[in-house]
Amino acid sequence: MENKVTKIGVLTSGGDAPGMNAAIRAVVRTGIYYGLEVFGIMRGYSGMIENDIVPMHSRSVANIIQRGGTILKTARCKEFFEFEGRKKAHANLKKLGINGLVIIGGDGSFRGAHKLSEEFDIPCIGLPGTIDKDIAGTDFTIGFDTAVNTAVEAIDKIRDTADAHDRLFIIEVMGRDAGYIALHSGIATGAENILIPERKTDIEELVASLLEKERRKKLVNLVVVAEGDNYGGADMVAKVVKERLPQADTRVCVLGHIQRGGAPSCMDRLIASRMGYSAVECLLEGRHNVMVGIVNNKMHYTPLEKAVKAKQKISDDWLKIVKILAS
Ligand code: ADP
Ligand code: F6P
Repeated sequence: MENKVTKIGVLTSGGDAPGMNAAIRAVVRTGIYYGLEVFGIMRGYSGMIENDIVPMHSRSVANIIQRGGTILKTARCKEFFEFEGRKKAHANLKKLGINGLVIIGGDGSFRGAHKLSEEFDIPCIGLPGTIDKDIAGTDFTIGFDTAVNTAVEAIDKIRDTADAHDRLFIIEVMGRDAGYIALHSGIATGAENILIPERKTDIEELVASLLEKERRKKLVNLVVVAEGDNYGGADMVAKVVKERLPQADTRVCVLGHIQRGGAPSCMDRLIASRMGYSAVECLLEGRHNVMVGIVNNKMHYTPLEKAVKAKQKISDDWLKIVKILAS
């Protein structure tokens, strides 16, 4: 590894998440505070390969802390999966003298960073930016809190109309193969059932629970389904429910990408600011190839390769809470 980091690049990669702008701002301003030159790499690894790299100044990140999306744009870049693509990317970094990187993204982006770093000896620091909260080594990921609050606001609205009509709603939320958005938004909105990929969905158990509620004249029912649920999402679940409970007035609502947009919550701005600041400190201290997380309210550093292998665990207590509180 080169010893002294003098010029750093920052990029956002993979799915965007609210709070990425706050993280970019923190990296740029902390870098400048410590006398580093800072570059913004546009459209994730695509910009690295295409040499779409721009100098960043304090003013470049003015007025963005409250904005969703990412001013650096983001992308999923096929070429970066290949060694030749990463070689091109590294050549562009070298031309500019960039000798440290901060990658804001999810586990896929960290896999790419880990490879680049191993092959070309460039220190990379990852910041967990994903609404899915599917990365080990941190209690929070940038964007999750905002996304889950967006889902809660939407589900509350669905409950109003469900209540007016005595309807059963099957609501699908995002999360890729993780069930955190479903679990948190479901508990916070008093959903009757929550289906997540971390537990095998027993459709018979769901039908039985809905029938039992019907017997008790509990007519407003919300079922929150994570998109990655093994049964196959809201449409698949609704198909069976409609067959087995034809008397129920059932509707489906897929919340979709609204969960990715909007102004970041206070929590996401805070963690993004702390993580962005810490990423630059890591590079200056010579910490290489770690993901910066927050565990028990303290900064926590996990080797990039470990951060991508393990997922966060969902405790059985959470699911017990759902059953008891939605009775
Ligand atoms: P996220 O970072 O949100 O998980 P992706 O999984 O789509 O998003 O990954 C973002 C980008 O990271 C990919 O488009 C690709 O450019 C790069 N990437 C992901 N996995 C790898 C890998 N195994 N090797 C090299 N690059 C990768
Ligand atoms: O990883 C974030 C996420 O929003 C997932 O929850 C979802 O499965 C996926 O990205 C959607 O990706 P795209 O925006 O490419 O449709």
